[in-house]
Amino acid sequence: MFLTLAQQRRTIYQFTSQPVEAEKLTYCLQAAIWAPNHGLTQPWHFYVVGDKTKQKLTEVYATTRAAKRAKENTTEYDDIYAKACDRFLANPQVVVVGQQRCNDPIQTKEDYAACACAIQNFQLAAWEQGIGVQWSSGPIINEQQTYQILGLDSQQIELIGILYIGYAECVPDSTRKPLSEVVSYID
Ligand SMILES: Cc1cc2nc3c(=O)[nH]c(=O)nc-3n(C[C@H](O)[C@H](O)[C@H](O)COP(=O)(O)O)c2cc1C
Repeated sequence: MFLTLAQQRRTIYQFTSQPVEAEKLTYCLQAAIWAPNHGLTQPWHFYVVGDKTKQKLTEVYATTRAAKRAKENTTEYDDIYAKACDRFLANPQVVVVGQQRCNDPIQTKEDYAACACAIQNFQLAAWEQGIGVQWSSGPIINEQQTYQILGLDSQQIELIGILYIGYAECVPDSTRKPLSEVVSYID
């Protein structure tokens, strides 16, 4: 039942080392591109990260994390850097999501909404296949180096999310407010 799928999907932070099958990833991408989008702008682009690029992004991820938390050339920095490398590399599959830029602020808002719908379609298609996703808007997507590594022009594309994908090592709990708190029936 769809409601069960939507309710049971959780953001996954820890993955087993099992790789994500290419055909399962394609299924998620197929689900993503059928998201609603105003004016059929189809503003999304998905960058499926391979091993070479993953290695380069690991350095950006680790540098960003360490620089935020410690001074360079300290053991604390080196520790955070090393842990961050392990953490990034432990994600079996990484997909970066970009939004096509445009000059109209209303369309930009609508396009972001459409990208968000696409990501949720992706996440639900993954969960249906037993695969977990962490949708992150973490600082790595704002780094110019990330654009360079992916070969992107930041004037054309805005990176809006990074998806960490794999089989869940553990599934966290989550909660929602009851309908009575978030729904008003207005006569
Ligand atoms: C736009 C957006 C950005 C998010 N960014 C992050 C993030 O940077 N890091 C993270 O751990 N989770 C991120 N999440 C996931 C949420 O934290 C998660 O959906 C929330 O905790 C509820 O958990 P659930 O997905 O298991 O229901 C993001 C979700 C959305 C919709």
